[in-house]
Amino acid sequence: MRTFRVGDDVTVFNDQLEVPGLGFLPVNAFVLHAREPVVIDTGLGLPDRDFMASLRDVIDPATVRWIWLTHPDRDHTGGLFDLLEAAPQARLVTTFIAAGIMSTERPLPLDRLYLLNPGQRLDVGDRTLHAFRPPLFDSPATVGFYDDRSRLCFSSDCFGAPLATAELAATEDVRDVPAEQLRSAQLLWAAVDSPWVHHVDPGRFLDTVRSMPLMDAEAVFSTHLPPATGMSAQFEAMLAQAPGTNPFVGPDQKALQELLASFEPVAAAT
Ligand SMILES: [Fe+2]
Ligand SMILES: [Fe+2]
Repeated sequence: MRTFRVGDDVTVFNDQLEVPGLGFLPVNAFVLHAREPVVIDTGLGLPDRDFMASLRDVIDPATVRWIWLTHPDRDHTGGLFDLLEAAPQARLVTTFIAAGIMSTERPLPLDRLYLLNPGQRLDVGDRTLHAFRPPLFDSPATVGFYDDRSRLCFSSDCFGAPLATAELAATEDVRDVPAEQLRSAQLLWAAVDSPWVHHVDPGRFLDTVRSMPLMDAEAVFSTHLPPATGMSAQFEAMLAQAPGTNPFVGPDQKALQELLASFEPVAAAT
């Protein structure tokens, strides 16, 4: 996991996953350096990842006051329980639905929860975080936020893109990705992650998007995209196209068998 700072307010914990046939998907978590520090998501849960080690290089976990779980998918919850233990002052900002989903595997401690719905606000000392449901999402529990002091927006899975190379998935500025390549990768991700978008009324969808605070944001931090500064107009144009793009169909069993047949035979042990 790579760590880098963007301006005064944000540290990015950048990891990635290679998705066969699609590309290299960034997987980001963040610290928002508010007066009451906020950790946003907690990375992948793979056994060789150590979110807490990366976090400790940036901030003393004991000083973390808020853990904002954008939604309880497993690429966002890797270090969650270790962080709750190491950050006894921290409350976990999430939704009733997310707490319910988590309870099917490992229940969250109820006395550590802070339930916050889209449309509600959280005071973190020197700024207010405005919770909203991003325009694209793969979980009914998804909640992003807009920070009204730094004018930064955290959009969860929305705006993600599987990128052509590992280097691009690790870049500190999404403008390193050629604009047309970025747009088509974001549209592909929209079809993969939010397949319902093909069933929305495009006009009403865009009206909803335009009413969101993220369109005023100076920078957007997606969990699946490098940091994006000054990209709101491009992102709005991409969203306008999302309902009309082709649905994604994943590889089927025939494709899997062809893949397996292409592997080199393994020599039998003697
Ligand atoms: Fe997700
Ligand atoms: Fe995700």
